[in-house]
Amino acid sequence: MKKIAIITRDCAGVNAAIRSVVRTACGYKIEVVGVLKGYDGLIDGKFIQLNRGSVSGIINLGGTILKTSRSKRFLTDSGQKQAVKNLHEYKIEGLIVIGGNGSLSGAHNLATQGKIAVVGIPATIDNDITDVDLAIGADTAVNVALDALDKIRDTATSLERIFVVEVMGRESGYIAMQVALAGGCEEVLLPEKESDIEVMCKEIKQGNAKGKSSWIIIVAEGKAKAHDIARLITRNTGFETRVTVLGHIQRGGHPTAVDRILASQLGNYAVEVLRDGQTDICVSMKNDKLVTIPLSVAIQPKKIKVAETYKLIKLLTK
Ligand code: F6P
Repeated sequence: MKKIAIITRDCAGVNAAIRSVVRTACGYKIEVVGVLKGYDGLIDGKFIQLNRGSVSGIINLGGTILKTSRSKRFLTDSGQKQAVKNLHEYKIEGLIVIGGNGSLSGAHNLATQGKIAVVGIPATIDNDITDVDLAIGADTAVNVALDALDKIRDTATSLERIFVVEVMGRESGYIAMQVALAGGCEEVLLPEKESDIEVMCKEIKQGNAKGKSSWIIIVAEGKAKAHDIARLITRNTGFETRVTVLGHIQRGGHPTAVDRILASQLGNYAVEVLRDGQTDICVSMKNDKLVTIPLSVAIQPKKIKVAETYKLIKLLTK
């Protein structure tokens, strides 16, 4: 293999993965090009040459140095044909796609056309890639949210208030669940689980009668709007509420050590499996071992198991 390309989405740890891919490939004298602005850049032929030097000083940076897009054009037949044409014109033999569900679905589409080898690296704060224990970016996102939550708790405790904190995850309650357990929160509302707001309000009133004066309720953005939940709580309990929506701060920031290490390992392994002639797969870490998963499996909706963690969250805050 003489020439490969990398295309990315953004989240903390993606730059560390780019660095690892580039430096591993350079060690094998494989030429690397970066695709600018995600799949839109692939359609428009926006390629830049990458070498050892171009990835120095990026291991600690959030986002992606390659920039990215949510490409609507890549969802069309003509967009994909143009992308494949460009890859051929540039004599690219292998493509490494770093991103979440959407990016890996695109990778699978390109791989099944059979004209180029494609390997995916899971990177998403939602941690919703099937058969992948931990995607790059998820650990940083949980830690960023947790840091914010600890600060909110200071006010919640001092003023004896109820806080509703909205975290990211349109279809995934991963961040919400992790943060609720790590932050000692009293309640968490997840897309994967039915919630009964009336029961929750009853618990708040009962807790208050016993002297419990502050509550932190985490809500995943895909479940409900924090402002709506706060209004319902005030209406049902008469207590004052405050709302914090954490938003995109969770996707940025300096990657944690966990994310940098994972990104370095997966970036290196992705180049190795491409050299091995493998395609239409996603690399991952399972029980401390590097493994591959068919992309067709990885892109299936992940069933995050929430029941046990939820039970623990409730038990520990009773
Ligand atoms: O998929 C990652 C994610 O950050 C989700 O948690 C969130 O719902 C979504 O992306 C936001 O997408 P955008 O940045 O395009 O608004």
